[in-house]
Amino acid sequence: MKHNNDTITSTLIEDRRFAPPKAFAARAHLRDPAAAKALRESAAADPEAYWRQAAREELRWSKPFTQGLDWSNAPHAKWFADGELNVSDNCLDRHCEGGRVHKAALIWEGEPLDGNEPEVRTLTYGQLRAQVQKAAQVLQRLGVQVGDRVAIYMPLIPEAAIAMLACARIGAVHSVIFGGFSAESLRDRIQDAGAKLVITADGGWRRGQALRLKDVVDEALGHGTHGVQNVLVVQRTREDIAMQPGRDHWWHEHMEAAKAVGKPVAVPAEHPLFILYTSGTTGKPKGILHTTGGYLTHVTRTFKQVFDIRDDDLYWCTADVGWITGHSYVVYGPLAAGATVFLYEGAPAFPDKNRFWDIIERHRISIFYTAPTALRTFMSWGEAPILKHDLTSLRLLGTVGEPINPAAWVWYHEVIGGGRCPIVDTWWQTETGGILIAPLPGVQECVPGTATLPLPGVLPEIVGPDGEAQPANAGGLLVLKHPWPGMARTIWGDDERFKETYFSRVPGIYFTGDGARRDADGNFWIMGRVDDVLNVSGHRIGTMEVESALVSHPLVAEAAVVGRPDAVTGQALVAFVTLTAGTAQNPELAEALRHHVAHEIGALARPAEVRFAAALPKTRSGKIMRRLLRELAGQGTVSGDTSTLEDFGVLEALRASED
Ligand code: PRX
Repeated sequence: MKHNNDTITSTLIEDRRFAPPKAFAARAHLRDPAAAKALRESAAADPEAYWRQAAREELRWSKPFTQGLDWSNAPHAKWFADGELNVSDNCLDRHCEGGRVHKAALIWEGEPLDGNEPEVRTLTYGQLRAQVQKAAQVLQRLGVQVGDRVAIYMPLIPEAAIAMLACARIGAVHSVIFGGFSAESLRDRIQDAGAKLVITADGGWRRGQALRLKDVVDEALGHGTHGVQNVLVVQRTREDIAMQPGRDHWWHEHMEAAKAVGKPVAVPAEHPLFILYTSGTTGKPKGILHTTGGYLTHVTRTFKQVFDIRDDDLYWCTADVGWITGHSYVVYGPLAAGATVFLYEGAPAFPDKNRFWDIIERHRISIFYTAPTALRTFMSWGEAPILKHDLTSLRLLGTVGEPINPAAWVWYHEVIGGGRCPIVDTWWQTETGGILIAPLPGVQECVPGTATLPLPGVLPEIVGPDGEAQPANAGGLLVLKHPWPGMARTIWGDDERFKETYFSRVPGIYFTGDGARRDADGNFWIMGRVDDVLNVSGHRIGTMEVESALVSHPLVAEAAVVGRPDAVTGQALVAFVTLTAGTAQNPELAEALRHHVAHEIGALARPAEVRFAAALPKTRSGKIMRRLLRELAGQGTVSGDTSTLEDFGVLEALRASED
C-alpha cells in the first residue's frame, strides 16, 4: 500500500467518516447516541452540576464536599474545596477493598531480552498498594512532609509510578522530570520546585543502551545541594554509580526495612498534587500546578468515557511518566478507574521493528494509545512487521499530542486496527490536566483529522482576535469559556505569568495557545500552536528555550529558532545563527551547536538544522522577523510583506545560505 504524505495539519478528508464498528458498539458502555447527546446538552447547560455529580460518582471522599466550583478568585478555580480525599486511596485502597485486590494493576516489560525473553513484572492492586505503603514510609523517614516537593527522574519502571503514588499518599507534591532532560534542565526544575528529595535510578534501558540517570542527577546537584537533602536510587541497570554518603540511599535497602502498613493522608481537594514543567513562549519552562480533587475527578471520568474501559481490558499508553499523558492516562486516570495498565520501558525498534507488535500479541493488549509521530514512524517502516503479528486483541486505538494527518489516521485504522477499532483523537494539554476534546467511541462517528466534539462539561469556543465568537469554519483561537475541574491552578512560583499567559489574550477566558476551527457539525479541527511553542514529535518545545541554549555557546552572537513542517516529527527545529566576529562557519560548528543544545536541554530539543547567517532579518524596531524565517525554513522562499524589514541584503544572504 502506498501512502501519500499529506500535510500534518488538518488537510480535509471530511467525506470519510467512521461510524462505531458494530462489534465495538455492542459492548460499549455508552452506546445510545441520544443519551450521549442529552448528556452533553445537560452538562453544557450546567457544567458545575455535571462535574459535582462526576466527583461524587468517580471518587471516594474521606470528607464529602458541599461546594462545587468557586470562581470568585478567578482565574484561580477551586473545585470541591471543602472536601477531603487522598489520590492513592482512590487509586489503590478502594480497589483493594472493593474486589480488585488480586487484579493486575501494572504489567511491565523491560527493554532488554534474555535470549528471546523479556523481563515482565506484574503487580496486582494489592501488591502495588503494599509497595506504595512502604515507599510512603521511606519518604516520611527521610523527612518528607505534607506539602514538600519531591523530584522524580526515572526510567519507565514500576517504581516511577510507585514513587508518584507514594508522594500522593503522604500529601507530598511530586515533580516528575522526563529522563531525557539534561542535567541543566533537571537542576533548573529541582530548584524552581524547591525539591527536598530526588528519586532516581542508576539508569534505564533505551535502544540497548543503559542511560546513566544517576550521573545526570549528580551533575545537576554538582557540589551544592540546591536544597536537596536526600537522593533515593532505584537499582535498575546495575551499572557502577557513585553514591554520596549521607545524601544518597538505595531504594531497595530502605524498602526492605519498611512495612506495608499505613493509611493514606486525607488532604483538602485543593491540596497540590504535582508540578509538571512544560515549555512556553519564554526561555524558562513553566511549573504547571495541579491539585487533588478536581484533577482526579477529571482524569477518572474522561479516562472511562474516552477509553470505554472494562475490567478485562489491557490498556497500553506509550507515553513516559515524565509527560502529562503519563501522569493522567498512565498512572492516575487508569488506576483510579481500576484498570490494568501495561508499561514498556524501552524503544519501539529494539531489538528490531517487531517489538511493539510482538508486545501487543504476547500480552493481548486491547487498548493502544500513542502519538501521531510514532504512527508516522511505523508507517515509514512498512507493514511487514505488523502483518506478521496477531493484533486482533486490539479493540480501541487512541492518539494524542499533535494533529494527526488523515493519511496516518486511516493507516492506523486499517493496518493496526484491522478496520475494527474506533480511533479516539484526544486533544488536551499539560495545563488542562485531562482530555477536553475527543470522540465518545461507542456512540459517535470518528472523522480523520479532528478530535471531534468536546467531552460533556467542557465548553470550548473559537474566537477572533478580539474575543468574538467565530462562525462555523472560520479559523480562530481556541479558548475555554467555562472552568473545568482538571484545569491548572497556577504556575508554581509565578502567578502573574499564569494570569498573563492564559487569561489575558481574551480577558478572563482560558486561552489554549492553539488555533482551530469548528465545522458545521461542531467538530474541532486543531491547526497547531499560534504562539512561539513548537511541537516536535509530540513534545512541546519553546523557541526561546532553544535560542537561550544556543546563545549560551561562546561562539554564538544571535540565534532565532523556528519550526518547519516535517513528515515524521510534525515540526522540526531550524536554528538561524549568527556567530561572533571572526568565527568561521563550518559544518563541524553546526554539529557542535546541535550537540550543545542537546547537552543544555536534552536530545528532544536538538535542532534538525543549524543555518549560519551574517545577520538575522529584523524590523526597524529591532524585532526578529520570525515569519520570514519560518517561510525560509519551510518553503525556501519568502512571499509575504517585507516592507518593515530593515535590510533586504540580509534576506538575500539568508536565501543564499541554503545553497
Ligand atoms: O498544540 C496542541 C497539541 O499539543 C499541545 C499540548 O502539548 P502538551 O502540553 O505537551 O500536552 C500534550 C499531551 C496532552 C496542544 O496545545 N495537541 C495535543 N493533543 C492534540 C494536539 N493537537 C492536535 N490534536 C491533538 N489531539
